[in-house]
Amino acid sequence: MCLLEGTRMSEAKFEPLKGHIHRTGDEMVARSEAFFNAMKTRRTVRMFSPEPVPKAVIEHAILTAGRAPSGANKQPWHFAAISDPDMKARIRAAAEEEERAFYGGRAGDSWLKDLEPFGTDEHKPFLETAPWLIAVFRQSYGTRPDGARDTHYYVHESAGLAAGFLLAALHHAGLATLTHTPSPMGFLADICGRPASEKATMLVVAGYPAKDCEVPVIDKKPLSEISSWF
Ligand SMILES: Cc1cc2nc3c(=O)[nH]c(=O)nc-3n(C[C@H](O)[C@H](O)[C@H](O)COP(=O)(O)O)c2cc1C
Repeated sequence: MCLLEGTRMSEAKFEPLKGHIHRTGDEMVARSEAFFNAMKTRRTVRMFSPEPVPKAVIEHAILTAGRAPSGANKQPWHFAAISDPDMKARIRAAAEEEERAFYGGRAGDSWLKDLEPFGTDEHKPFLETAPWLIAVFRQSYGTRPDGARDTHYYVHESAGLAAGFLLAALHHAGLATLTHTPSPMGFLADICGRPASEKATMLVVAGYPAKDCEVPVIDKKPLSEISSWF
């Protein structure tokens, strides 16, 4: 970077925007409605089928997650994709241990009351039934090739956006997902062999829903409640 006559000149390189299709207003209305209709069928599922899912589906979903915006393009995330049965069993055992303490009182009365409509408890068989677990890690900082620390910005926001892209991609592919946050989740970094700079932010369970899968009856807030217009 250098300053020249009050204008900041940068070493940035630019290229023409690729892939953008100019659509009419009508086309965009139709496409946005179709996308909403597709996304509104996304539900958190807690009953999974063991039916295998090709690795390429998970690869594409992670590639999609990797296209999320991030502070200064630091891409402060890592996705550990797990199909290995032994590793899934270890994750289930560790998660259930934490969840036993959580449901046994650590959560506190008001949190447990809020969870009642979902019928969840410390039993997490889906962690072994579902074909894929994807542990999402946020990277507090990176490491440069010379070993120096690389500062990351807006780490929570960036990793959250990437996780949203991941869930949307998995849903778009035809998979059901569960966003699981066993609390605390330190065991995930240990089991997945991740460095101290990374913290698990969620465990995404992905697979086909079980044939008899049911989901809790819930409401979503209407547009008038989640938006204001000026
Ligand atoms: C950050 C986050 C953490 C969550 N943690 C859990 C969890 O540990 N266990 C669980 O069964 N569901 C968990 N959920 C799923 C929510 O309960 C679910 O998204 C919510 O009830 C709305 O249902 P829906 O996803 O079907 O719209 C989590 C969701 C989010 C976004």
